[in-house]
Amino acid sequence: MWESDKDDLWEESPETQDDPRSRKGAERFVTSDLTEDDLEAERSLRPQTLDEYIGQSRLKQKMRVAIAAAKERHEPLDHLLFYGPPGLGKTTLAGVIANEMGAQMKTTSGPAIGREGDLAAILTNLNEGDILFVDEIHRLPHQVEEKLYPAMEDFKYDIVIGKGPAARAMRLDVPRFTLIGATTRSGLLTTPLRDRCNPERLDYYTADELSQIVRRSARILNVTIDDQAAAEISSRSRGTPRLANRLLKRVRDYAQVRHGGDITREVALEAMDFFEVDPAGLDWMDNRILETLVVTFQGKPVGLSTLASAVGEDESTLEEVYEPYLLQLGFINRTPKGRIATARAYDHLGVPLGDAT
Ligand SMILES: Nc1ncnc2c1ncn2[C@@H]1O[C@H](COP(=O)(O)OP(=O)(O)O)[C@@H](O)[C@H]1O
Ligand SMILES: [Mg+2]
Repeated sequence: MWESDKDDLWEESPETQDDPRSRKGAERFVTSDLTEDDLEAERSLRPQTLDEYIGQSRLKQKMRVAIAAAKERHEPLDHLLFYGPPGLGKTTLAGVIANEMGAQMKTTSGPAIGREGDLAAILTNLNEGDILFVDEIHRLPHQVEEKLYPAMEDFKYDIVIGKGPAARAMRLDVPRFTLIGATTRSGLLTTPLRDRCNPERLDYYTADELSQIVRRSARILNVTIDDQAAAEISSRSRGTPRLANRLLKRVRDYAQVRHGGDITREVALEAMDFFEVDPAGLDWMDNRILETLVVTFQGKPVGLSTLASAVGEDESTLEEVYEPYLLQLGFINRTPKGRIATARAYDHLGVPLGDAT
């Protein structure tokens, strides 16, 4: 079950709200943040079962064991916490787990639970065995988080009714539920929260896993794609299923308009060229960053603020949106003196190493 409630505490699209990065990112084709455009397609492309959920094999094995054990004991699953970059399947996995448990999933997010009262309403509306999915859990207000702990541990919620001398403390029972938290910023999680969940990291997907995802999505979207084309799309998807699906949809549009529909390798390459996604999955901004380091600053370390103004982006976008993938690819390094392009970046740009330095 995806959206079981449409109460205003339950957000329809937690990821697109309130996050400056997604607004910025929405203009960007290769962003792995959720864009408006993805919402509908994501619903149809989202795997429903562990068998359909591709990759993350170790995590999947652990989940299979945990689910089987909980079911055998007729108990809810222990609380869980998924962390990792956007678009890797955290929300999807939470839904899959709910489905495999035969449980209802209710979805909310850290920023949506502004006050203690919001949390009380959410918890007391749960049914036994429900899964409460809290996206961006690192953004739960501190006082809300404090109230969440006893609910997670003892399934109790303490409230104070009335004011002044007439005030009474009450302990409400909370139905036994499973909390699944998700975050892209594991560094911002508090220790008490970590201690009460089992934090699990989601990894980037291999090219082969992404190919499987692309072929599966193509089947669902009813488009013919050959294996080589699927491989080309996968290799430019930054290890991220959300990007693979998005790229597939753009390539499908292109194939339909320019080539009558089927996606062959040639069509895929032409389309990705058209959309300016290069063989490493970099867009023009990524390349501009690399060029700035290699050519403009001739390979010297460049401070964040200098780099940001040179490429015309703000510092936090540069740091949180663009740099992670360049770091992951090993194209740049962060040194105490500043950002520096690696030999791989030179190679990617086709600039000989000795030349610019
Ligand atoms: N393991 C997977 N197998 C197949 N598709 C996946 C998988 N993980 C994610 N996806 C696809 O990628 C999209 C984004 O995943 P999502 O769960 O929203 O990522 P996150 O919550 O980590 O940002 C989903 O809609 C789904 O179509
Ligand atoms: Mg998500």
